[in-house]
Amino acid sequence: MESKIRPAEKRDLPSLLDLMNQLSPYSSQIDYTKISETFSSILEDKFYRLIVYETDDKIVGTALLLVQKNLSHGGRPYGHIENVVVDSSYRGKGIGKEMLEYLINEARKYNCYKVILNGRKGTEGFYESAGFKRTDETEMRIDL
Ligand SMILES: CC(C)(COP(=O)(O)OP(=O)(O)OC[C@H]1O[C@@H](n2cnc3c(N)ncnc32)[C@H](O)[C@@H]1OP(=O)(O)O)[C@@H](O)C(=O)NCCC(=O)NCCS
Repeated sequence: MESKIRPAEKRDLPSLLDLMNQLSPYSSQIDYTKISETFSSILEDKFYRLIVYETDDKIVGTALLLVQKNLSHGGRPYGHIENVVVDSSYRGKGIGKEMLEYLINEARKYNCYKVILNGRKGTEGFYESAGFKRTDETEMRIDL
């Protein structure tokens, strides 16, 4: 079985949407044209690293790193990881952890001083397995 992590490409959109549906199921029909445009702009933006985990020509995982520019810390950016999903049939095989390690390494290449993420309750152990630590910071949110 051949497996690799690679940057997402245009042809991956249907597989990525299937994975996004496993993260948060669509409540209504999606506007494919609009989401294709968003996807293209992510692929073209050097401050976004969207990766896929491919095994035997099937996309079974994805994760996104956003490199956020910043004026503190001498202007060093920080990384924000989002949208980590492994297909339900492929979980528990180390794929998620491998993708996190890949993106942490990408963040290093951008000279990021930290990588942050908001994990769902119950996934703490998963993120800890890749070196993340719980913080005592308060997470705040407003739904729009
Ligand atoms: C969370 C998720 C990405 C984990 O991916 P995965 O490929 O199954 O995880 P891995 O096999 O790489 O697990 C790596 C380590 O984390 C542990 N782990 C995995 N899921 C865990 C969980 N939910 N809680 C605690 N530990 C977990 C594994 O036991 C493993 O430990 P080890 O390194 O000591 O062996 C996957 O379950 C998923 O896609 N879930 C649905 C979407 C989701 O919730 N995404 C996260 C949003 S915050």
